[in-house]
Amino acid sequence: MGRYNSELMPAELVCFNPSCRTRYPITGVIYNCPRCGALLEAVYPPAPDPGQLKKLWRERRMSNTPLDQSGVWRYREFIPFLESTDVVVSLREGNTPVLNAPKAAAYGGLKRLAFKHQGFNPTGSFKDNGMTCGVSQGVRLGMKRVACVSTGNTSASMAAYASAAGLDPIIFIPHGNISYGKLAQALEYGARTLQVEANFDQILALVRTLAERTGIYLLNSMNPFRIEGQTTIMVELMDQRDWRPPDWVVLPGGNLGNTSAFGKGLRQMLEIGLIERSPRLAVIQAEGSAPFYNLMQTETRDTLTAVKHPETLATAIRIGDPVSWPKALHEVVSSGGVVEKVTEQEIADAKAVIGACGVGCEPASAATLAGIRKLTAAGVIDREADVVAVLTGNVLKDPDYIYRYHTGQLKAPNGTRIRPAFGNQPQVVPNDPERIEALLAANIRES
Ligand code: F0G
Repeated sequence: MGRYNSELMPAELVCFNPSCRTRYPITGVIYNCPRCGALLEAVYPPAPDPGQLKKLWRERRMSNTPLDQSGVWRYREFIPFLESTDVVVSLREGNTPVLNAPKAAAYGGLKRLAFKHQGFNPTGSFKDNGMTCGVSQGVRLGMKRVACVSTGNTSASMAAYASAAGLDPIIFIPHGNISYGKLAQALEYGARTLQVEANFDQILALVRTLAERTGIYLLNSMNPFRIEGQTTIMVELMDQRDWRPPDWVVLPGGNLGNTSAFGKGLRQMLEIGLIERSPRLAVIQAEGSAPFYNLMQTETRDTLTAVKHPETLATAIRIGDPVSWPKALHEVVSSGGVVEKVTEQEIADAKAVIGACGVGCEPASAATLAGIRKLTAAGVIDREADVVAVLTGNVLKDPDYIYRYHTGQLKAPNGTRIRPAFGNQPQVVPNDPERIEALLAANIRES
């Protein structure tokens, strides 16, 4: 689909460690700095004029070409790591709406609140924004097999994009700890699916070893190209808001790839001059899987202590040893952001409130609203603030959780029953119009 106009200085991979900063070719099959082991980040030659970019990107919304219709590749000048876009594998990812939700705003203690809903992606989560880039880079590098460990969404996304590209997807998931919706997607999209009897963090170590031994291309979020794709979530958000940044962007934190990506995207937009100030990032973790929150409470913040047995019903963020924490720490601190943690009960009720707005999301995503409620109560987020929360996954990802919540059967990992403050029980009724009419009338009087 054509060449970029960036031949003067090539894109490169740079070590994220400030005292190393070694540079590597963009075509290296590396995930960490071979010198010091730190994470890598893609860097680019200076971008064109921001005014021109805004105009070009807006014009592309009228275009029917697949590349322009993608909410990632529409912004391709922002992520110019490919020599040619001929290798791009797109399922029309991105293009996710920003939805106002007054009921959720009130619940969160805010005057207004908007959700950027990444669950509108082709496989139902924000992972598609990153995966289109990771898989396209895999094609460019001539890879045949790709792999990831996942709490469910990465694997669903990788399975779809790899199969669309004609690559062989192999996924590793913690046995018994991902939702059926996500597992079903991986099977349907044709991925070889290995359920390992270990948790996410343990399986990641295993998959890294396997990738090294077998030359399989790894598509977890330490893959810098996944992060590149996810930076465009922030670009699209700013474009949708006519380049007026909100005061806060709130997101759930698991392996912390998304936090890293949002921070990088915002930094890069500031550098180019696309925005004039950065929103503050607020990252929300589940109480039983909150190593990043714990790190932020320490004085030096120089070592993350892994949570050995992470627990939460929000299985997407059930991660105790997040690989991207050094990047995420940098991004949160440099945006003037915060990290908060929330309980299972708080996540469950916030999720039902988001549902009752007609929006809906999966459990991990609802940590955002639960976190907002806590942060406004503590006076960290002002009631008048302009806040965007990013809902990371679709409501249908975990229907089992929903049914249990509304019928009062949901139990936290420690066995405590979740009390459904916003429960909505289905009712069994006889096949009798009079009795149904009476029942409905009673309901109307009650409400
Ligand atoms: N929300 C959802 C729905 C997720 O699936 C994930 C991560 C996160 C939030 C956290 O994002 O890891 O970038 O901090 N899911 C990964 C997976 C780990 O394997 O699907 P993060």
